[in-house]
Amino acid sequence: MEETIQIKDLYFKKLLSKEVIRKRVKGIAKRIDKDYCGKNPILLLTLKGAIIFAADLMREMEIPTQIETIIAKSYGMKIASEGKVEVIENPVNLKGKDIIIIEDIVDTGYTMQSLMNRLQSFEPNSIEICTLLFKPKNLVVPLQVKYIGFEIEPLFVVGYGLDYAEEGRNLRDIYIKID
Ligand code: IMP
Repeated sequence: MEETIQIKDLYFKKLLSKEVIRKRVKGIAKRIDKDYCGKNPILLLTLKGAIIFAADLMREMEIPTQIETIIAKSYGMKIASEGKVEVIENPVNLKGKDIIIIEDIVDTGYTMQSLMNRLQSFEPNSIEICTLLFKPKNLVVPLQVKYIGFEIEPLFVVGYGLDYAEEGRNLRDIYIKID
């Protein structure tokens, strides 16, 4: 029988198992290793959702990297983005650096668009986005996402760092909302 879990008022079923996620994360790490060979990119981790993904990804990578964090908040207690994004910067010197933004999920794209705009002002050498999950049907802004783990349907998901009102981040698999 399919496992159903409840978080607060919502019900979820399993979408991606930890084994499937692990395999995909390894694949992305290999690609980044190849693309950034000879470079020392900064993995810019968006808090808090990308912590688990970033931790697994960087342990699969072999090239030297530096990790930095940034806070990008959009949902709060809700499950739908309103396009209002708050970006709290970390004052690390990004000038001339190769930045890879590590994100948990790209939904409308507002968060990544705001972040990219802010980061351009630091004059980095390059900026790319690496997201574990992507909801292409919800994307409303033009956005180039170089590394994508999984494209998913436009439904709310939790687990592997993703939360619903701060719960569910510790789930090892990824779960999708059911009615
Ligand atoms: P966007 O600005 O609409 O692209 O939303 C991106 C941010 O919203 C992500 O970094 C997540 O924090 C959050 N988010 C989007 N979709 C989901 C979801 O299905 N579950 C949990 N958080 C989500």
